[in-house]
Amino acid sequence: MKIIGGPASQALATRVAREMNIEPTLCEFNRFPDGEIYTRIMEEPMDEVTIIQSTATDSDLMALLLMIDACEDAQVVNVVIPYMGYARQDRKFKSGEPISARAVARSVSADRIFTVNIHKPSILDYFSSDAFDLDASDVIGKHISSLHLKDPLIVAPDIGAMSLAENTANGVGIQYDHLEKTRLSGDTVTIKTKNMDVCGRDVVLVDDMIATGGTMAESIKLLRSQGASDVYLACVHPVLAKNAVLRLFNAGVRDIIATDTLEKAQSSVSVAPLIAASIKNF
Ligand code: R5P
Repeated sequence: MKIIGGPASQALATRVAREMNIEPTLCEFNRFPDGEIYTRIMEEPMDEVTIIQSTATDSDLMALLLMIDACEDAQVVNVVIPYMGYARQDRKFKSGEPISARAVARSVSADRIFTVNIHKPSILDYFSSDAFDLDASDVIGKHISSLHLKDPLIVAPDIGAMSLAENTANGVGIQYDHLEKTRLSGDTVTIKTKNMDVCGRDVVLVDDMIATGGTMAESIKLLRSQGASDVYLACVHPVLAKNAVLRLFNAGVRDIIATDTLEKAQSSVSVAPLIAASIKNF
């Protein structure tokens, strides 16, 4: 087995290789003078290879496609896309739009494909090969538990993040809840936790991704105004676009916890054990 890390997932690929007691395969990434991407795998790919590459940018996707092509002589090609870009456009919202997640999935050809907490599990059906979604809630939960927070409560900022919050909390025996919007009149809404009082408690808001930070910034302010003690954020995918980090600290977050599906300064939790175990299972 060879572990090949793309330009967006070099640290994660190295960690996966270490989990499996093998050396990561060296690759060269460069650009031609006209801007096109050049990729070279520095060892002959044989037997089974696992390519690990998140596709947050268009160049990342292109690099992944080139690496897959370079592995044409391998007998089995596994592709791990820890963070898959374009996944949020998983249906047509307006006529004339593409299903971008489907377009990306159709371009990726491999024997097996692995994603991590993909935006919607139904996207897996768009791949032409067997595709599996790995769940990082356990590793995130363990990290939250290791922080020894004061009377901690895990909170989903909306219904969409409920099952992630529930899985994260259940694994480590922490209570969980979600924020709920109640319309009081035509132009007045209140947002608060559905069941639990947050007063005096450390709260961890959990979502699959933080992109602009808008959802979380509003939730932090709200929880602080309702008497929460420290408010932490935890997410699988730290997209953290534009000024999201400043925005979140400005809103009063204590710390941001994220995994290394995207390699950012906030990626303190690794999904490498999860990926290594899944690849070994085949
Ligand atoms: C939405 O479906 C996702 O689960 C996140 O809640 C969303 O992408 C966060 O976006 P932002 O950080 O821009 O509010």
